[in-house]
Amino acid sequence: MRVAVLTSGGGTNLQALLDACRPPQPASIVLVASDKPAAGALARAEAAGVSTHVITDPTDGKAIVDALQDAAVDLVVLAGYLKLVPADVVRAYDGQMINIHPALLPAFGGTGMYGIRVHRAVLEAGATVSGVTVHLVNEEFDKGKPLAQWPVPVNDGDVPETLAARALEVEHQLLPVVVLAAARHGKPVRLRSSMKAFAGADAPDLDKTLRGP
Ligand code: GRF
Repeated sequence: MRVAVLTSGGGTNLQALLDACRPPQPASIVLVASDKPAAGALARAEAAGVSTHVITDPTDGKAIVDALQDAAVDLVVLAGYLKLVPADVVRAYDGQMINIHPALLPAFGGTGMYGIRVHRAVLEAGATVSGVTVHLVNEEFDKGKPLAQWPVPVNDGDVPETLAARALEVEHQLLPVVVLAAARHGKPVRLRSSMKAFAGADAPDLDKTLRGP
């Protein structure tokens, strides 16, 4: 499966994918695109020998589709991509585009809910558990069908940064699991997790506990 990653930031999730999607795995990262020319993610892609593309106008869906089609992409992964994906891109990759969000959607998602703001909102709400969601992308922020979710405990004394760091560790495990499952099935599939395996563990072994569709 040929995978493109769209990202706006440092790209630690991209790095997790670059590390996981290597031969003999059935997925490979063939394109990394960013709306931010200085994004650390582009440097990570270059270091890995992966083609890069700068999205000069994030509202220009045709240009984005052209770049994805030129790279013969089968799956599009939004990993810290902060712009709304234009409707024509969503239509062109219907059921073939996923996003990772650092909370248990549908809670703490939607417009303006990204990055540290998510974790601040979780703590302000007094939630005792947060998590990570990977979901299909539709035309609204964070509203597509969830494919995989994993809980992250909220600890006493947490500040947004500590909760973000704990969630990010899980993101780095969950996203490759979902991408490799998609590659094995030829399209993104829903995975079910075992809550029992989570008990007492901050960073569970997702390979052992996520079961296929
Ligand atoms: C992650 O928390 C991701 O879930 C969110 O933005 C952050 C990106 O981090 N959408 P990175 O660029 O992958 O390091």
